[in-house]
Amino acid sequence: VDAEAARSLFDANAAGYDRVNTLISVGLDARWRRWVARRAVTRPGARVLDAFAGTGLVGVECAVLGAEVTLADASPRMLARASAHAAERGVEVCEIVTDLTAEVLPLEPGSFDAVTLSFGIRYLDEPAGVLRRLGSLLAPGGRLVVLEFVRPTAGPVTAAASLYFFRLLPRIASRLAGRAELYGYLVTSVDRVGHVRDLEHLLVSAGYGVTERRTFGFGLVAGLVCHPRA
Ligand SMILES: C[S@@+](CC[C@H](N)C(=O)[O-])C[C@H]1O[C@@H](n2cnc3c(N)ncnc32)[C@H](O)[C@@H]1O
Repeated sequence: VDAEAARSLFDANAAGYDRVNTLISVGLDARWRRWVARRAVTRPGARVLDAFAGTGLVGVECAVLGAEVTLADASPRMLARASAHAAERGVEVCEIVTDLTAEVLPLEPGSFDAVTLSFGIRYLDEPAGVLRRLGSLLAPGGRLVVLEFVRPTAGPVTAAASLYFFRLLPRIASRLAGRAELYGYLVTSVDRVGHVRDLEHLLVSAGYGVTERRTFGFGLVAGLVCHPRA
């Protein structure tokens, strides 16, 4: 989707986003996000960009760990929720409303120690280019930490989790949120990302080396730590 479509979709869904998110992950997402934050904040005062920040749940967690955080997203209403989260947690974050798929980003190259990208890759029409440009924002030794839904590999628990995720959840979520399109897209977009090995392949093709990987939520979510290759 382009930035304009993302903005209207997420502005319209901002109010219910966190609630539905908790439902989608049966409350486990807080743990996944903390994992990302701990990987991103490698020292106090680390400069972290939370890209496709949404309501800022990852970025705010990084700020709580002592990072200097910038949140970037196309949706002002999602970022307004992020401000509220930061205030609740007693931290300060900087926010930028911008199209992160643009060729030129309003951010200084080499100015971040980490970029976090949670549940954003599947919205990208040309993910490799966006990932490469995000990589150029990293200082030497910097890292990209990715969290994304993936197609799970086999297993009985995974089969049950898939049933929940791919069949039941879109119905529940769209009823709860009153809007079907976002959650229908959630499921079809998982097909775009594919399995965790496809996600890794994408990151490698965008110039990264993957140094740490794990799956969460019965294999439905992947977390990857990546470094731009020299
Ligand atoms: C599913 S949400 C993920 C939010 C957050 N990272 C999280 O973990 O909950 C995807 C976010 O990407 C943003 N987005 C989509 N396309 C974008 C673009 N081209 N530029 C900037 N933000 C975009 C949307 O506004 C939305 O807030």
